[in-house]
Amino acid sequence: MRATISLLLLFLSASSWADTGEQLLQQRCASCHDLQGPAASTLEDLWQRKGPDLFYAGVKYRPQWLRQWLQKPRRIRPAGYLYFQHIKPGEKHDVIDASTLSEHMALSADEARKVTEALMTRKAAPVQVKGDEFGGGSISITFGEMVFDKFNGCMACHEIEPGYGGLSGPEVYTAAKRMQSAYLVSFIRDPQAWNPKTPMPNKHTSELNIQKIVRYFHALAKENWDEK
Ligand code: HEC
Ligand code: HEC
Repeated sequence: MRATISLLLLFLSASSWADTGEQLLQQRCASCHDLQGPAASTLEDLWQRKGPDLFYAGVKYRPQWLRQWLQKPRRIRPAGYLYFQHIKPGEKHDVIDASTLSEHMALSADEARKVTEALMTRKAAPVQVKGDEFGGGSISITFGEMVFDKFNGCMACHEIEPGYGGLSGPEVYTAAKRMQSAYLVSFIRDPQAWNPKTPMPNKHTSELNIQKIVRYFHALAKENWDEK
């Protein structure tokens, strides 16, 4: 009897422990995402990673977006996390090999809330991010697109609306909804400071143009893409 009760207690405490956000992260996310850091320092190390690093999630994401996306994930990178693992030669140019891409797992509302809380405590950023990196302000979509595409060549790798733009990087039409503005400024300024082996090039964009690009991301994010 006593053994049964202690077993039961053990089971109860184990399952409630397993229910914390931290535990969910370790059990269900750690196989694909780095939760501890540091970022990959060699290409070999990068190649092993199955999803974006989450060890500085607390300075990168908007918690509201995280909670929603984890319940209803949709693809952010048309060609997967490491695009070069998901392309094959086509007739005219390389094409995405969709058979190698899989759907992201979804969490219940309760799990998503706990996991978001646990992720937002992760602030071990390799770069010091100042809250006021982004000065605010607005820009027209037309002028923003010119700065993003013509002046800085960013569209070669990023979609500015579904099905329009480059495929190797994450879509940017939801960037301001997904990520904190200060992170966006800091990452564009020096992607390799965040992730030494990231395929995102440092385009040496001027501070003024970085501000314009982040304003442009905000303008794009005003559209309700999820409903299109
Ligand atoms: C089988 C591997 C795998 C598992 C398990 C997994 N993920 Fe992911 N995750 C990915 C991949 C691949 C992407 C990139 C998806 C995309 O860009 O469309 C991703 C993207 C994300 C993103 C968006 C990141 C960004 O910067 O774009 C978040 C947040 C995330 N995952 C959180 C989680 C959490 C939390 C868990 C556990 C509950 C989890 N993932 C489990 C593979 C995985
Ligand atoms: C050669 C292709 C390429 C070009 C050109 C490029 N990027 Fe990227 N970009 C990427 C890739 C690939 C990633 C994903 C990096 C990673 O996960 O480490 C990325 C990531 C990003 C991110 C972070 C997005 C996220 O969801 O995590 C932003 C913001 C961004 N790029 C903006 C820009 C801007 C602004 C320019 C022009 C100045 C630009 N990119 C030019 C390939 C490119």
